[in-house]
Amino acid sequence: MAHVLSDEQIERYDADGFLVIEGFAGPAACAQLRARAVDIVEAFDPGEHRSVFTTDEQERTSDREFLASSNGTWCFFEQGAFDADGALRQETALSINKIGHAMHDLDDVFSSFSYTPDLAGVAADIGLTDALALQSMYIFKQPHIGGEVGCHQDATFLYTEPLSVTGFWFAIEDATLDNGCLWAAPGGHRTGLRKVFKRLGPDFADDDAGTEFEVLDTTPLPSPAELVPLEVRAGTMVVLNGLLPHWSDVNRSAASRHAYSLHCISAAAEYPAWNWLQRSAELPLRRLDGRDVSHATAPRSIGTSA
Ligand code: FE2
Repeated sequence: MAHVLSDEQIERYDADGFLVIEGFAGPAACAQLRARAVDIVEAFDPGEHRSVFTTDEQERTSDREFLASSNGTWCFFEQGAFDADGALRQETALSINKIGHAMHDLDDVFSSFSYTPDLAGVAADIGLTDALALQSMYIFKQPHIGGEVGCHQDATFLYTEPLSVTGFWFAIEDATLDNGCLWAAPGGHRTGLRKVFKRLGPDFADDDAGTEFEVLDTTPLPSPAELVPLEVRAGTMVVLNGLLPHWSDVNRSAASRHAYSLHCISAAAEYPAWNWLQRSAELPLRRLDGRDVSHATAPRSIGTSA
């Protein structure tokens, strides 16, 4: 596969744990993805299931829809979307925190945006030669109510042995200090994984059995003062090592901050059955480069209920 990144970019990624690539996605592709995300929200009927996305542990622990979204296209509300009476403060289209987590395999527009030779090339250049596209999220960071995403390492939520999760984060709109851009800790990927988010239950297959965080390393994650802001223009891609501590602030501005993120893992790594995200056998993971996933290299637990 042809190289997409320069040696200097690869060295910078290895040193910092993240890499900012301006102009990676063209304006037309960004506009198409944005329009599709808005369509999905407009067609979304939450019924009685108003899942709120939050990194608050209590709420996340009890959220069955979150676990079930491994295989679906689900819209999660902002924490501040509802008033004390449970009524939406603003229209639904301005109340959704994100869409997740399998659009890249369920929707043609998201699939076309995700499975590209350029992205597979970037993954290969940083050592992920056998990338599987595991999780997609379209994040709205809505005007005025866009929630904070607390400092975390992605490997907490998408764990493999050896660690391999890598995030590809695309700014679909300009991301600024005002509307809640990413912040990252340069070099922080060389510190240990602090905790893992695990399914509970005897075989981890019951979405009602709940989840828990298991602490692996009590070293505190960096405070916001130790992070650097990544203000980027629409079309920029940020590659994030799965161990890199990163954070994004609330959005109190009048501008939304749409972003799309795709998380990939190595096909050769082991994927524990206790990871929250479990694909069904009907929706197997696909390689980012379009090659077939052979049984010999597929993660052991994906596609099974155990
Ligand atoms: Fe993250």
